[in-house]
Amino acid sequence: MKKTIAVIKGDGIGPEIVTEAMKVLDKIGERYGHEFEFKEVLAGGCAIDATGEPLPQNTIDICKASDSVLLGAVGGPKWDTLEGSVRPERALLGIRGALELFANIRPSKLNPALADACPLKPEIVGDGIDLVVVRELIGGAYFGKREIIEVNGEKAAYDTTQYSVSEVERVTRVAFEMAKKRRKKVTSVDKANVLESSRLWREVVERVAKEYPEIEFNPSQFDVIVTENLFGDILTDEASMITGSIGMIPSASLGKSSLGMYEPIHGSAPDIAGQDKANPIATILSAAMMLKYSFDMDKESEAIESAVQKVLDKGYRTGDIISEGCTLVGCKEMGDLVSENI
Ligand code: IPM
Ligand code: MG
Repeated sequence: MKKTIAVIKGDGIGPEIVTEAMKVLDKIGERYGHEFEFKEVLAGGCAIDATGEPLPQNTIDICKASDSVLLGAVGGPKWDTLEGSVRPERALLGIRGALELFANIRPSKLNPALADACPLKPEIVGDGIDLVVVRELIGGAYFGKREIIEVNGEKAAYDTTQYSVSEVERVTRVAFEMAKKRRKKVTSVDKANVLESSRLWREVVERVAKEYPEIEFNPSQFDVIVTENLFGDILTDEASMITGSIGMIPSASLGKSSLGMYEPIHGSAPDIAGQDKANPIATILSAAMMLKYSFDMDKESEAIESAVQKVLDKGYRTGDIISEGCTLVGCKEMGDLVSENI
């Protein structure tokens, strides 16, 4: 099968980690007889430097015309003082909006090989951590009306959280469909005792839940968590921390069609950029999610996951996940190792 992948390497460690994921995809192509054509486009700080804007129209056009998008990370101190509308982060929001990627899937799984890194007590961890947050991605405070105003002669600012019934409904369905393939549990997170938008959220989720009698709704143990954009941002950061290895967590942003965007959940880590120290695993696992969710290549996706597992089981670690008795490797070597194990 031939697939076109738009590639946004981005800023900081972005180029290094994406290069390793592309290497792994090439290996999959070779092994399984697929052709992946990569089209590199600019977004984020590097796009600001090259074109003056964080998300050039050409980037949007190429992403839309591709079968999926692979992204590294955007942003860095160089662009931190820019005004909100031209910051690198705008590129992310812009592309999520332009491709209508309304559901962001972020798994948090404790890898047994990295159990030492988990900050929770062993009795709480039990047989492990394995949950997935389905975050609404193109609504709420991120996309609502915002303004800097003056109140009583003082500077003030507001952002608004708005959701429509259909916006809540579509992301809720993604969560329930996902739960069918997992442990059949969905928990919805809202703040319905205070926020009007949360009351609407809850009303819709409760109605949709009735269509899925086989799924336990709001169980005592989490499995799939569905929530709005801002809560989802916070919860996914926290959920990644409990695994102790944010450098390992991939994500998928999905919409109506099979075109999705895949990226690690960590940032651009400017402090270690260009030093061959970054952990490429989250990006490599994002490529695995792409194969599964956008291309229906389940066995190819599993081949990547098991290659990553083999490399970890053999004791290879990048600096962020190093522990005693393990072998320290750089970004490039980690990519080579995963690719060799496919
Ligand atoms: C994320 C990031 C982004 C977000 C930022 C960089 C715009 O934190 O993907 O979680 O808040 O959505
Ligand atoms: Mg975030």
